[in-house]
Amino acid sequence: TPEKEPLKPGDILVYAQGGGEPKPIRLEELKPGDPFVLAYPMDPKTKVVKSGEAKNTILVARYSPEELSPEVAQHAVEGVVAYSAVCTHLGCIISQWVADKKAGLCPCHGGTFDLAQGARVIAGPPPRPVPQLPLKVENEVLVAAGEFLGEVGVKAEAGGQCRV
Ligand code: FES
Repeated sequence: TPEKEPLKPGDILVYAQGGGEPKPIRLEELKPGDPFVLAYPMDPKTKVVKSGEAKNTILVARYSPEELSPEVAQHAVEGVVAYSAVCTHLGCIISQWVADKKAGLCPCHGGTFDLAQGARVIAGPPPRPVPQLPLKVENEVLVAAGEFLGEVGVKAEAGGQCRV
């Protein structure tokens, strides 16, 4: 089904929450230091939101540009970064924000990712960062500028599924 298609470069990022019409994420709606938002890619032509596949879940956060490491900044726009939201430990969705660390938290086992620094793991069991998604802005909304820069989710050889 089209909802399960993988993310493609050029897809528009839309808010994951809230029913009704898909709502593209406008750059100006994100403020540095605010909690990240969860998003899905939307095909720009068919307007199908690819929410049928958990691996398409994206988290989007905004930092002050100087807070980002140089590698992260290369794929960010105006301090806005995007990553896969699928935890690399057992595949839960990283859904909570740790305000004092400005980090993403996986509620399953406490995996914590520093999103300004390449999603470096700063706490918990995840074996590796979640891959970054390069971004661009078109018509004031966020658009995927490429594929995820690495494997999404749990590496095949690690096996396992989130069972919470
Ligand atoms: Fe995320 Fe275990 S699945 S920390």
